[in-house]
Amino acid sequence: MPRLYTTVLSKKQTIRRSILLIRPKLCSLLPSRQFGINSTRKAPVSDKTKIAASESNQSLKLEKLFNVKDKVALITGGGSGIGLMAAQALAVNGAKVYITGRTANKLERVASLYGNNISGKIIPLAADVTEKDEIRRLVSEISTREGYLSILMNNAGISSQTQDTERKDASELRETLFDDPAATFDEWDEVFRENVSHIFFMTTAFLPLLQRGSEVGDGWSSTVLNTTSMSGIVKMAQHHFAYNASKAAAIHLTKLLAQQVSSSKLRVRVNNIAPGPFPSEMTTGESDEKQKSFIPDEKYRVKVPVARPGRDEDMAGAVLFAVCNQYFNGQTVVIDGGYVLAAGSA
Ligand SMILES: NC(=O)c1ccc[n+]([C@@H]2O[C@H](COP(=O)([O-])OP(=O)(O)OC[C@H]3O[C@@H](n4cnc5c(N)ncnc54)[C@H](OP(=O)(O)O)[C@@H]3O)[C@@H](O)[C@H]2O)c1
Repeated sequence: MPRLYTTVLSKKQTIRRSILLIRPKLCSLLPSRQFGINSTRKAPVSDKTKIAASESNQSLKLEKLFNVKDKVALITGGGSGIGLMAAQALAVNGAKVYITGRTANKLERVASLYGNNISGKIIPLAADVTEKDEIRRLVSEISTREGYLSILMNNAGISSQTQDTERKDASELRETLFDDPAATFDEWDEVFRENVSHIFFMTTAFLPLLQRGSEVGDGWSSTVLNTTSMSGIVKMAQHHFAYNASKAAAIHLTKLLAQQVSSSKLRVRVNNIAPGPFPSEMTTGESDEKQKSFIPDEKYRVKVPVARPGRDEDMAGAVLFAVCNQYFNGQTVVIDGGYVLAAGSA
């Protein structure tokens, strides 16, 4: 046999021997299926292990993951639109939900329509959340009635004037954006007071009650959920500079508050929800006798990839996720049917 051939054979043998030598080590590192053998001999499963497995399954059931039963919530702007959707989502699942707004009869109508035959409650509490004294009064009411707060949803907000931005000429743009008598510093102040400052003052005023909510909450960390908007994320002004700037500020304020609260070692999570178009008094100018608003699908056939405005169920699912997920903090839930994907973010 030529010498070369014997050499090749012995190399193959060497490789095979090395594989045999390292195989037991590899078996302990890689899944046994890759070697077609069962590397671990399984002991019979003890009752204790079976109980642990069953408990693990139980802990992942929907009613555990999204459990808001007996939680105390306060929603600003809970008398219509998105705030009403959130109030229903929490109350039908067992939470005691206080709703606030400036128009008492709107809140009372919501409580009488949606607060019956459900496991939770809806309780009207009229207030203007852009006034410090009113906020103090709300804190005192919740403190006296409940002694703690589990969920604070800072949702009240207003839109700003729309302005015509389809101009190619500098003078014309100046005319529509600056010279327009409706475009004033006061308008910007009002929009920021509602959409940004209210979040800051409500959150900071309620911190002690929220912290108390975590202490009584059996592992629950109380939470602040701010309603911001996809308008604070998209790259265009959508004809309302003040509103979009205020919503971007509200998203950033959420992060600042989350960071401050957690670095102060408080067990309170602060997040925001950034909706796309949903039917509300803001987007349609009215509510019907059920305190609900309506937008036809056609209106968003082109602008929104999902080809319709948001629905109550879309908002309810997002709110329940954001308030219940204990590992969620300092973040934004964008619930917009893909609007930002189509429009592009800043
Ligand atoms: N609908 C959408 O497409 C959309 C999209 C993105 C973000 N958002 C945001 O969602 C939030 C809710 O708006 P919405 O669309 O549901 O409109 P909405 O139906 O007009 O709801 C806003 C609510 O806030 C209340 N409110 C306003 N100023 C208040 C104040 N100073 N104190 C207490 N309550 C006040 C209003 O009631 P009173 O007037 O009776 O006080 C109203 O019920 C807003 O922050 C909005 O910017 C909405």
